[in-house]
Amino acid sequence: MTEENRPLAPPGTRRFAVETFGCQMNVNDSEKVAGLLLAEGYARVEDPADADFVFVNTCAVRERSTEKLYHQLGRLRRLKEKRPGLRIGVGGCVAQLEGRRVLERAPEVDVLVGTHTLARVPELLAQARGGMPGVDLDRAADSFSVPDAAVAHSSSVRAYVTAIEGCNHVCSFCVVPRTRGTEVCRPADAIVAEVESLVARGYAEVMLLGQTVNAYRHGGVDFAELLARADAVPGLRRLRFTTSHPEHVGPRMAEAFRRLPTLCPYLHLPVQSGSDRVLADMRRGYTRARYLETVDLLRGRRPDLALTSDVIVGYPGESEDDFADTVSLVEEVGFDGLFVFLYSPRPGTSALRLGDPVPEEEKKRRFQVLNEQQQRRQAGRNQCRVGTSEEVLLDAVTGPGRLSGRTRHFRIVHVDGPPSWLGRTIDVEITGAGANSLLGRAAGSLTLAARAPMF
Ligand code: SAM
Ligand code: F3S
Repeated sequence: MTEENRPLAPPGTRRFAVETFGCQMNVNDSEKVAGLLLAEGYARVEDPADADFVFVNTCAVRERSTEKLYHQLGRLRRLKEKRPGLRIGVGGCVAQLEGRRVLERAPEVDVLVGTHTLARVPELLAQARGGMPGVDLDRAADSFSVPDAAVAHSSSVRAYVTAIEGCNHVCSFCVVPRTRGTEVCRPADAIVAEVESLVARGYAEVMLLGQTVNAYRHGGVDFAELLARADAVPGLRRLRFTTSHPEHVGPRMAEAFRRLPTLCPYLHLPVQSGSDRVLADMRRGYTRARYLETVDLLRGRRPDLALTSDVIVGYPGESEDDFADTVSLVEEVGFDGLFVFLYSPRPGTSALRLGDPVPEEEKKRRFQVLNEQQQRRQAGRNQCRVGTSEEVLLDAVTGPGRLSGRTRHFRIVHVDGPPSWLGRTIDVEITGAGANSLLGRAAGSLTLAARAPMF
């Protein structure tokens, strides 16, 4: 069947596809939009070519991710030329940042929502079907207004739960405060109620989300207390959170890793640079020494804590010496995983005035140096795990007779087994190792709802 004569589904069985760029917050936002459309009677399809409505949820953190949107819109425009009934929606950070400019540059867009107005997608889509583009970019709207029950979680094992929207930091390179606004914390009772409901529906693991989730504070409840309250939900097997800012790590949070049975020993703690000069310019609010002290505090409470981080290379003015400081910091901490980004100038950020003086080739060289160093470390560490036993929560079927899951330290493990094992916790004997994942053999009994042992 050609695109031209593909029939549109009758009302009630219209089909939608969602494409998501960016972080877990965006994944969670897409899950909300998908849930709202399912509640309206739409059916979900994976391929935009099969959909009557395609929603693109965008990321603005780097210029490349913004450009991806316009490439994708070009493809969708060609699809729409063949099937004029197709409707196209754009949401998230680029929509918030660019506003109506998206419509000027891509007039094929029918629905445009910001980061706070996703709940209005079905209503704006109905308006667009009537011939009027549906646009709502209101930053002041309540971003927690999608009911928990409506969220269509993309995994049946791990569920994301938003704890904070926005960010109060002013990192010189980062566009997020402009796109997601200042911090708004969700009441702890609402977060805990969502965790309870997820556990009752069979979810094994919950990941609390926020750009700086550990800055959480609402009505006298701080982040450590929020973690304790989530941990106390009967039946929850694993609790995680992301992303944390080093400035908000204190003894109470470190202690939570020692004390709370479900809280997994894994923390993503972006450092961005190992050079004090660059960190000050980035306005990160800590020095290299302070970051290392924070790592010591955490490891003092939880020696086996797995730590991952983000680093930016080629920040304006980053000299060879500054970069050497980052290389040595990465070596000194010994991260379990590292995400290295090439600096990308973003509109409205304070670093924009510095230009982009580090040549692209040099950024790429630094990127490669750090990645190779990190891959060597990970390969060596993972090799040492061969022969040990790991508790793995199986969260994906990856092929016929093949599943993958995560250890409590968030390491990926591949095992052979039937699809019915999805969602189960098994003991795995590690039989092989690469830099980014482990291979194992189911060794012990399958668990449906065991609580993790105290550390
Ligand atoms: N909230 C997190 C934190 O505490 O740092 C970071 C959120 S940001 C969406 C994710 C990562 O993207 C950052 O940690 C940073 O490494 C990277 N990033 C942000 N802005 C960037 C830019 N302009 N160029 C390159 N990488 C950038
Ligand atoms: Fe961005 Fe810094 Fe906040 S990296 S999300 S402004 S902590």
